[in-house]
Amino acid sequence: SYSKNVPKGTKPLPGPTPLPLIGNLLSIGKNPHISLSKMTETYGDVFQIQIGTKPVLVLNGLETLRQALLKQGDVFSARPDLFTFRLIGDGQSLTFSQDSGEVWRARRKLAHNALKTFAISPSLGSSNTTLVEDHISKEAESLVRTFQKLIEEKGEFDHYRYLVVSVANVICAMCFGKRYDHNDQEFVDIVNLTDEFGAAAASGNPADFIPILQYLPSRTMKNFIDVNKKFTSFTQKHVNEHYGTLDNNAIRDITDSLIQHSKEKRLDENFNVQLSEQKIVNIVNDLFGAGFDTITTALSWSLMYLIANPEIQEKIHKELDQVIGRERRPKLSDRAQLPYTEAFILEMFRHSTFIPFTIPHCTNSDTVLNGYFIPKGICVLINQWQVNHDPKLWKDPFSFCPERFLNEDGSSINKNESEKVMIFGLGKRRCLGEAIGRMEVFLFLTIMLQQMQFSKQEGEKLDMSAQYGLTMKHKRCYLNAKLRFPMMPIS
Ligand code: HEM
Repeated sequence: SYSKNVPKGTKPLPGPTPLPLIGNLLSIGKNPHISLSKMTETYGDVFQIQIGTKPVLVLNGLETLRQALLKQGDVFSARPDLFTFRLIGDGQSLTFSQDSGEVWRARRKLAHNALKTFAISPSLGSSNTTLVEDHISKEAESLVRTFQKLIEEKGEFDHYRYLVVSVANVICAMCFGKRYDHNDQEFVDIVNLTDEFGAAAASGNPADFIPILQYLPSRTMKNFIDVNKKFTSFTQKHVNEHYGTLDNNAIRDITDSLIQHSKEKRLDENFNVQLSEQKIVNIVNDLFGAGFDTITTALSWSLMYLIANPEIQEKIHKELDQVIGRERRPKLSDRAQLPYTEAFILEMFRHSTFIPFTIPHCTNSDTVLNGYFIPKGICVLINQWQVNHDPKLWKDPFSFCPERFLNEDGSSINKNESEKVMIFGLGKRRCLGEAIGRMEVFLFLTIMLQQMQFSKQEGEKLDMSAQYGLTMKHKRCYLNAKLRFPMMPIS
């Protein structure tokens, strides 16, 4: 396996002793984010484990992550060739495929531009808002009405099921120019497939490292293959429709603009690399896929924390009443005036760290990090959960305390503190949708909370335990809520 003979002046990687065949699987266990964080106490920030017979590098600690992903960013920006990744998006994914540096960079730039044009640029309809803000406001408003109706009819609701459709509608509008009803069965099915996806795509899935497991029947893997097929055929259907109705003088959405790009071969001017039509157009598969599960999970955890901590929910209600009042809806431009709400969101990201590891990376070449020799091509797990619970960085890391992010007088966010939170990754592979993600979490949350007070069902216990995966979720549950004041018309 891995050589302990390292170049002069460098140290070999430390790490637990592997067992034959299974490596360190037993000590990694069912919650790798916790077990691998614990190992830093013995081995430090940089160590090696073995999954099956394959060595895997684990990086922890904020300074170490900054060194690897920012200062040595080029070396650490590749993706490993993993069995599960080859099954995503026909193996052509911008996010998960092994595309060479240049091809990946060109595609990432296209994706970035598409999001800029169809999300962040100013809206034509109303003044001072962006396109994505218009979509979010509309969806959040309709979500509140839906919750209200469910409470009247049933006295409870499965909030996740409705949140996911509303959030998916936002990215669906930008990608395909279309929204779906909460009762559209095809759409509801597609957006509810994410648990199966996250379970198999999780960091450290043994099937990625122990080849024999790829040939054994496994429900997780069968589901995963199924999910990816359904997902790509859903986006393919939209793409085909767009090919049929494309008008070069009226580009409607991200799919149109990608098709136009691929036809004009405009890329040649900007890049030294030729991308196939498929590699351009199926970028929309990545954007749609990345664009709803993450945000829905963030909002769902937010509601759970608010219900578990009613005094925090009350503080947010107070802040909203003081700053926004009841005559108008919250807007993105209110963000700086709502520091407590912003601090709550940061604390939700930190405390839950529902993306415990980034998507795995791999090294492009031999390198040295913190004095340790690191070989080319080794799979790298980046432990966000450890950073967010590091007692060296946070006071009482396991307590839920939004105040930790506020400056002393409580009127603004402490930037030093907020920049320590690791949830979008760092450096060259950093999340492309971070700005949109932060906007959506803020606006959905404030529009819901201005109007509603959330609570658990009488007599039921709130289960806040997290299920390990690419994105960690709590168990599905039914919530209750009430309107804080009679419904007002939207201004
Ligand atoms: C990658 C987090 C929302 C698009 C990532 C990564 C993380 C992340 C941790 C992996 C970084 C790495 O591998 O080092 C989040 C969180 C979100 C969110 C916490 C919401 C709260 C979004 C949205 C979009 C998006 C809304 C698209 C509209 C992407 C893409 C990548 C990515 C395309 C892959 C980048 C690459 O491999 O070059 N995100 N994300 N994300 N995200 Fe997000």
